[in-house]
Amino acid sequence: MNLKQRGKLPIVVLISGGGTNLQSIIDSTARDLPVCIQAVISNVEDAFGLQRAAKAGITTAILKHHAYPDRSAYDAALCQEIDRHEPGLVVLAGFMRILSPAFVAHYAGRLINIHPSILPALPGLHTHQRAIDTGLNEHGASVHFVSDEVDGGPIIIQAQVPVLTDDSAESLAARVLQQEHRIFPQAIRWFAEDRLEISDGQVLLDGQPALNHSAGS
Ligand code: GAR
Repeated sequence: MNLKQRGKLPIVVLISGGGTNLQSIIDSTARDLPVCIQAVISNVEDAFGLQRAAKAGITTAILKHHAYPDRSAYDAALCQEIDRHEPGLVVLAGFMRILSPAFVAHYAGRLINIHPSILPALPGLHTHQRAIDTGLNEHGASVHFVSDEVDGGPIIIQAQVPVLTDDSAESLAARVLQQEHRIFPQAIRWFAEDRLEISDGQVLLDGQPALNHSAGS
């Protein structure tokens, strides 16, 4: 296990893919984000994000879901792997699995996810194509605490981008990702600075509704 760095919140990041959000967190920690990434765990063996983690000297683990008989067995093994690192926060950065209620309960209040839509609009998959198909003018991303409802937990921060008339799912995704890379480290910073709380299903930042807050402070 990596040595915990003094004054920094230990976090574990879960990924399934390219890991550009992971990279934005790694880059932010190299500047002044007060967290220490204890481990990056992937359910996908060849997720490129694992290479990003290794390059940054971060411990990695692969836990293939196909190797387990069912979701609860997988989630129990995942919990065990995560808890070895004693994280104060577990970060889902493109982890493309639905998590069981037992898993969510185990990390209640310290499990956050980034989702590529302005929730509660467009939960689930293929959000960029669906934003185009439904003729939305605006699309974006949300960082939220994870609850039992898929993509439904209390929202910490959101970012909006315009949907352009000639957008493809790829061009729109790229515009949204730029914003993801800004708001995810911001949300993690607020958590690490102990400035967030959940009250009546709503996230408060410094005691005020977090969604009224403009990002960047
Ligand atoms: C990101 O767009 C993230 O919001 C999305 O997967 C992508 C991962 O990209 N997550 C979800 O759709 C979760 N429901 P990355 O691997 O480059 O960070």
